Amino acid sequence: MEILIRDTPDEVAVTAADIVATYVRRGAVLGLATGSTPVATYQELIRRHREEGLSFAGCTAYLLDEYIGLSPEHEQSYYRFIRDEFTAHIDIDDAVVHSPDGLNPKPWLAAEKYDAAIRESGGISVQILGIGTNGHIGFNEPASPLKARTRVETLHAQTVSDNSRFFDSIEEVPTHALTQGLGTILDCEQPLLLATGFGKADAIAAMVEGPLSASCPASALQMHDRTTLVIDADAASGLVRTDYYRHVEESRPAWSAVDGRPVEA
Ligand code: F6R
Repeated sequence: MEILIRDTPDEVAVTAADIVATYVRRGAVLGLATGSTPVATYQELIRRHREEGLSFAGCTAYLLDEYIGLSPEHEQSYYRFIRDEFTAHIDIDDAVVHSPDGLNPKPWLAAEKYDAAIRESGGISVQILGIGTNGHIGFNEPASPLKARTRVETLHAQTVSDNSRFFDSIEEVPTHALTQGLGTILDCEQPLLLATGFGKADAIAAMVEGPLSASCPASALQMHDRTTLVIDADAASGLVRTDYYRHVEESRPAWSAVDGRPVEA
């Protein structure tokens, strides 16, 4: 794993935007997470679009997950969220911003269809990810199968509680979601996980320095050879080997940008 530690959430957003922009410039398939963490990165990408001409016109996007039972118009649906926070402010064609169909009465079929669509698009290039306080990525909660495809998941009580801040009451938080499975996520070219704040420190320590285990679904990213984390010092505060991770970045050879590969490769 490549672990890039930044002093502040704003610096996390700049580094993450640098990485995403390399994919945007080649018209790649973007994997988009919702939640609060990537919003600053999306804002930085919007700024680069407006002020520096970064064009998303050649890109396609797939959301990581969607609540079951919320219509696309619902202000907390991820369909709505990603448009409000990101894609409505850039020049990507709205028709190619895809998300799982949370209203399909047969959600397991919606999951299969979504997974097939990702495959048929050629696969996700860069997959932006947040991490839950319990180590989930997407909505893959602890004990998720490590090789699963897009599927239906029951939200953990911790996730319902964490996400209730976006709803008027905890009772309104959906109990189920459609999520790319860990196997689907692992198929992407580069997972890019972002985390900020002390609240994520335990989850980051478990995913990076703990064992590969379904108990911490994010630890599945240990199996991907191009996983990059961009985290702030607070989220990194539970790690034991921060000196080494900083040393790896500082001693990166001039010919190498990410994991020993040129960024534009
Ligand atoms: C969002 C998602 C979730 C969040 C995670 C962290 O699409 O799949 O895994 O990334 O719950 O959420 P925040 O960033 O709000 O702390």
